[in-house]
Amino acid sequence: MNETTPTTEDRARAVFAARADLYVTSAAHTDPQVLSRLVEIAQPQPGWRVLDVATGTGHTAFAFAPYVESVVAIDLTPEMLVRAQGLAEDMGVVNVRFKLDDIHELPFDDETFDDEVYDLVTCRRAAHHFSDIQEAIDEMVRMLKPGGMLLIDDRSVPEDKFVDSVMNRLDWLHDESHVRQYRPSEWQQMLEAAGCSIVVSEQYIKHRPLSSLTDHVAAEKVSQIHGILHSLSVEEQQKLALVEIDGEQYSNHWYITVAARKSLE
Ligand SMILES: C[S@@+](CC[C@H](N)C(=O)[O-])C[C@H]1O[C@@H](n2cnc3c(N)ncnc32)[C@H](O)[C@@H]1O
Repeated sequence: MNETTPTTEDRARAVFAARADLYVTSAAHTDPQVLSRLVEIAQPQPGWRVLDVATGTGHTAFAFAPYVESVVAIDLTPEMLVRAQGLAEDMGVVNVRFKLDDIHELPFDDETFDDEVYDLVTCRRAAHHFSDIQEAIDEMVRMLKPGGMLLIDDRSVPEDKFVDSVMNRLDWLHDESHVRQYRPSEWQQMLEAAGCSIVVSEQYIKHRPLSSLTDHVAAEKVSQIHGILHSLSVEEQQKLALVEIDGEQYSNHWYITVAARKSLE
């Protein structure tokens, strides 16, 4: 690759540096329903050590912090971690430590990242940015104790070729560090390949305004998003539940929560 070609991680760093302020208060990222479902699934315990991967401005780390001994929260974008640290100080949270790292390049034999010390590894709304998803999953599983839980929540697509292709295209136009939002069957395959067994897999849908795709996006990409939506047949519109409400278009966005246990051997 040419030295000047930005990597997926370079693109993520640029996108999230520019949008860091938005994530502090983003309704989608502070959604208490989603965060409390994650806590309910994991059943965190007072002695636990948790690793939160791609923590962004820390919302998932903060949701688990009250229930566990400590949380290490990593992210590759310094600007996101600055906001996360600020929120921790504002809220008086003292058991979350933030660290700048790429999930694909976690150090070995590091004092923070001893293998197999974490009871729970969480990763919310970020896996669709990882350049090598299987490597990232393998790294998250390496950090878990045997029997520990990997808890993922992310954008997803149903097992439908049209919806898969159009939603992945729209999300790439929204954010060019987007790699792929995966189907439930792909999550199952990847987690089993990493030596885990799935204990919970729940797909859920949020009906969201078009502005969630077009806000803070360059005009040329916004016009491509509009072009795609205008070109859809009635049947395709129905598959996305595309409707107009009070003058704004809304459509389905698919998500998945999946919890998997690392094998005991
Ligand atoms: C939407 S935000 C995460 C939201 C956060 N997990 C939450 O629950 O609110 C996505 C984050 O993924 C981070 N990210 C993307 N690729 C990464 C990688 N390879 N390693 C670590 N962090 C990454 C970005 O810097 C960004 O902060």
